[in-house]
Amino acid sequence: MVKIYSGDLDNASAYKLLTGVVVPRPIAWISTQSRAGISNIAPFSCFTFVSSDPPMIGFNCGLRNGVRKDTARNIVETGEFVVNIVDDALLQQVHQSAADYSAEISELDVLGMACAPSETIAVPRVLASPVNLECTLERIVPFGRAGAEFIVGEIRVFHVREGLMVDGKIETAALRPLGRLGGPLYGKLGEVVRVEPV
Ligand SMILES: Cc1cc2nc3c(=O)[nH]c(=O)nc-3n(C[C@H](O)[C@H](O)[C@H](O)COP(=O)(O)O)c2cc1C
Repeated sequence: MVKIYSGDLDNASAYKLLTGVVVPRPIAWISTQSRAGISNIAPFSCFTFVSSDPPMIGFNCGLRNGVRKDTARNIVETGEFVVNIVDDALLQQVHQSAADYSAEISELDVLGMACAPSETIAVPRVLASPVNLECTLERIVPFGRAGAEFIVGEIRVFHVREGLMVDGKIETAALRPLGRLGGPLYGKLGEVVRVEPV
């Protein structure tokens, strides 16, 4: 085994290691709106759920050049966001939406992504996504020395594409989720293995 002491790592090396070992990561394609009403979308793969009662999800947003990214800034301004779940057909759009557009430009317009209004919040949801989660901000927790913030939202409405659910559960093979791996790599769903209850 190779031993690496975290105290010997700088931020970039630790990031490289972490994004290689915490895999595959699900992707939250997060749409937000600025106070001025400009919509924004960007992918975030440091993403998980943190509570089921009430349902809450969280993602980690780093700083860019020492300031909040548009996504985090919009959430702080409005208290709202939509997590659009990503299937493998959306790979190119998801990847392109991570480019560093200025705050006045809507990635949704650039990518030509059709949206629908949400029911409980002002932020639109992406129609091409199989699942949209309307969220209101629950809390923001800062971590570490590089200014990373874990942003938690409470889900108000789940929008699930027709045919994806059986007995209240999502059919993963039908969902075809896309995952993020290390560096420029993504993963599609491989073999699904069923185990019996222990
Ligand atoms: C698949 C993928 C996953 C990403 N995950 C994260 C993440 O978890 N946290 C983060 O801060 N940036 C992440 N990024 C980078 C952001 O998407 C990128 O900085 C983006 O420009 C932020 O956009 P915004 O300024 O409109 O919020 C990811 C990029 C890609 C392509």
